[in-house]
Amino acid sequence: DWKMSAFVENSVKEIKERVGDGKVLCALSGGVDSSVAAVLLSKAVGKQLTCVFVDHGLLRKNEGDEVEAVFGPNGSYELNFIRVNAQQRFYDKLAGVTEPEAKRKIIGEEFIRVFEEEAKKIGTVDYLVQGTIYPDVVESGVGGESVVIKSHHNVGGLPDYVDFKEIIEPLRNLFKDEVRKVGLELGIPERLVFRQPFPGPGLGIRIIGEVTAEKVKIVQDADAIYREEIANAGLDKSIGQYFAALTNMRSVGVMGDERTYDYAIALRAVDTTDFMTAEASEIPWAVLQKVVSRIINEVRGVNRVLYDITSKPPGTIELE
Ligand code: XMP
Repeated sequence: DWKMSAFVENSVKEIKERVGDGKVLCALSGGVDSSVAAVLLSKAVGKQLTCVFVDHGLLRKNEGDEVEAVFGPNGSYELNFIRVNAQQRFYDKLAGVTEPEAKRKIIGEEFIRVFEEEAKKIGTVDYLVQGTIYPDVVESGVGGESVVIKSHHNVGGLPDYVDFKEIIEPLRNLFKDEVRKVGLELGIPERLVFRQPFPGPGLGIRIIGEVTAEKVKIVQDADAIYREEIANAGLDKSIGQYFAALTNMRSVGVMGDERTYDYAIALRAVDTTDFMTAEASEIPWAVLQKVVSRIINEVRGVNRVLYDITSKPPGTIELE
């Protein structure tokens, strides 16, 4: 795509001129926007860039390792990569908390605290990179898979919790599909470029009620099965967003001759153009049946699977 290769070439040149020999810091979420922004910066200034990836223990199955495989020392790019394994820290903070907004707030604040601690170790930086894209500028945050730092701080005000001089937003004029094209142009793996939107608070808001390590594992495993079967059915690029959530409901079932009393998983899938309104996707019955039987058989702690066909409004896409 000549337009995108021209965009990459120009951006790299502009960033080089602007940054000079300055130090650059980037919060990497593993989402499309921050990944593409990071790779652009890496192409322009290499090791002057440090990316901090906070693993809050609320990512999808294997996601932390996948991000590390792409951006870490064995990955494809020249940059300094710091992965912070803060899982336990987040679980401790979330213990006993059930109210959705309280959970969001804790995850957001803890994220900033962890990021800030890492930034302090690096010392003063000259530039902070943000993966802000055009729709974020117009209308803050909705539909992005950005880290929390973004939905709170990317538009208007500048973050005050790290010491930096200026902000760089290389994707500020691009729409999502253009960001994806740039990502492909930069050689970022397709599975990362076409990743599902993922909320900053991650699985923390896909587990209704209290978040525990055990529940995270359940929803990760169920979601991985769901995504695998959606891909097998060739539906992964046509459905707007789809994921599994863990309800806080336990109900009675029977497995073999045993009575079970386990959790119910809710499957969500929506068609949407802008994430402001959405309709439930009509996933073929056979695909749903396959997903349900695999989840029940393969994920311990689950004995029932529900398909949520609520549109938005009145429902939201996420359950919390
Ligand atoms: P709702 O649930 O509000 O979600 O219908 C609309 C879209 O926004 C995503 N979402 C978030 N994205 N930080 C984000 O970056 C968040 O806190 C957040 N909450 C929801 C959601 O996945 C959907 O795509």
